[in-house]
Amino acid sequence: MAAEVGEKWVLSVTAQTPTNIAVIKYWGKRDEELILPINDSISVTLDPGHLCTTTSVAVSPAFTHDRIWLNGKEVSLSGGRFQNCFRELRSRATDFEDENRGIKITKKDWEKLHVHIVSYNNFPTAAGLASSAAGLACLVFSLAKLMNVKEDHSKLSAIARQGSGSACRSLYGGFVKWIMGKEDNGSDSIAVQLADEKHWDDLVIIIAVVSSKQKETSSTSGMRDTVETSALIKHRAKEVVPKRIKEMEEAIAKRDFPSFARLACADIHRHEFLRNQGSPPRLDYKDNSQVAYTFDAGPNAVLISKDRKTAALLLQRLLFQFPPQSDTDLNSYVIGDKTILKDAGIEDLKDIEALAPPPEIKENPSTQRYRGDVSYFICTRPGRGPVVLADESQSLINPETGLPK
Ligand code: DP6
Repeated sequence: MAAEVGEKWVLSVTAQTPTNIAVIKYWGKRDEELILPINDSISVTLDPGHLCTTTSVAVSPAFTHDRIWLNGKEVSLSGGRFQNCFRELRSRATDFEDENRGIKITKKDWEKLHVHIVSYNNFPTAAGLASSAAGLACLVFSLAKLMNVKEDHSKLSAIARQGSGSACRSLYGGFVKWIMGKEDNGSDSIAVQLADEKHWDDLVIIIAVVSSKQKETSSTSGMRDTVETSALIKHRAKEVVPKRIKEMEEAIAKRDFPSFARLACADIHRHEFLRNQGSPPRLDYKDNSQVAYTFDAGPNAVLISKDRKTAALLLQRLLFQFPPQSDTDLNSYVIGDKTILKDAGIEDLKDIEALAPPPEIKENPSTQRYRGDVSYFICTRPGRGPVVLADESQSLINPETGLPK
């Protein structure tokens, strides 16, 4: 899309990129600059219809320097991670021509031209909901389209990785593996798709957002502390994860929910133990698991149900246990795929108050209800990878001024 600014033009691209939740975690780097991990990881991409980043990028000879606005605020682009992504993308940019508008950009021009980036998350930034994953993946994907970079998604994933590790997995939909790679230059540390979102579309994911505040410790410093202080993390990376990755790949290929749940839960327990240096709990896994759970980088719980029926029962239990404050609007308390709420038989707040205690709670009359402890719930499912939004009305950049709309 291009428009004239006086005699100058503005050329822009808008893209939407999903977030992802790891079921076998990335925790620990072997190279902080290139963001190379110490183990492979596997994630599920979440439906961008519910959680996503939208980014518009524009180039114009009228722009005097690179600028970025995140969620309505201009922020600095001087950080090494942004700069590394820019350098990688500019070196792969190719010639672009729009004869109708009289726009011609050669490969060399991209080194001198500046870009404007405007990005929005439709969910809380840095609350642990992998906003950096969706954000950096979207930045790299949209700039790659603008700059006519001809590399495939796995090459782009290696660039997004340099912005934030988990971002490399957001270049694909469905079920994604980040291969740690062996090369010192990181060229083989890329994401690959294990299966697309249609492969296992029974899964329902419910996220309990307990805090929309920014998390206190960044993943980067948390990982650094663990790698420096924990001998066990080396054991996890070398001995535990490789076996678990193989088993998880098999569980996904076969849609084997009990194994999927056992592996995801085991991984988060080991992971939380390493982060907190506490004692790992002993867990007894049952073969009839209906729900898997994990956490992202923040305190929010992510519950993955085996199908819609289980998800509706789970949501009833969650709403019984964590009812909203009385002044809450149900529409903003359960967001995303609201059909699960319907399946759970809940149409308004009165239905939540009228929920009968689930049988397992009835036997324990001392069980409390934790009103207001959860800010809101998001119901979602596995979703697709990044897409370009061709409809100009969805652009976040004013085509006349090149500034945020
Ligand atoms: C717990 O990708 O946010 O979510 O590479 O330093 O930017 P940086 O970290 P980031 O870490 C994510 C950690 C995690 C696990 C995971 O997503 O695999």
